[in-house]
Amino acid sequence: MKRRLYPLALALLLGLALAQDGQALYGKNCASCHGLEAQGIPEAIPPLAGNPRALDEAYVLDLCGPRVS
Ligand code: HEC
Repeated sequence: MKRRLYPLALALLLGLALAQDGQALYGKNCASCHGLEAQGIPEAIPPLAGNPRALDEAYVLDLCGPRVS
């Protein structure tokens, strides 16, 4: 019975690891402009929190790829 839980536990751990990776990447590459809380800067930098465009990979790469060094 217990064996059935392993895939579930693994998937959960992987999910957590990926989320943390994302956070580290964001902190390193995006937070300097978009803010630690992804809140942006009024009038200058759009917020990413709750922003559907932040999930559009092609759009992000197009717009901010060149800004990330
Ligand atoms: C050097 C500063 C800078 C960095 C670094 C940066 N951005 Fe941006 N970002 C901007 C500016 C400025 C805009 C507004 C551009 C415009 O509207 O022309 C923007 C716009 C965006 C938008 C569009 C928001 C909207 O509502 O249109 C997204 C999504 C985004 N950035 C994601 C990211 C991600 C993800 C990263 C990290 C990989 C990142 N940005 C790194 C400055 C930056």
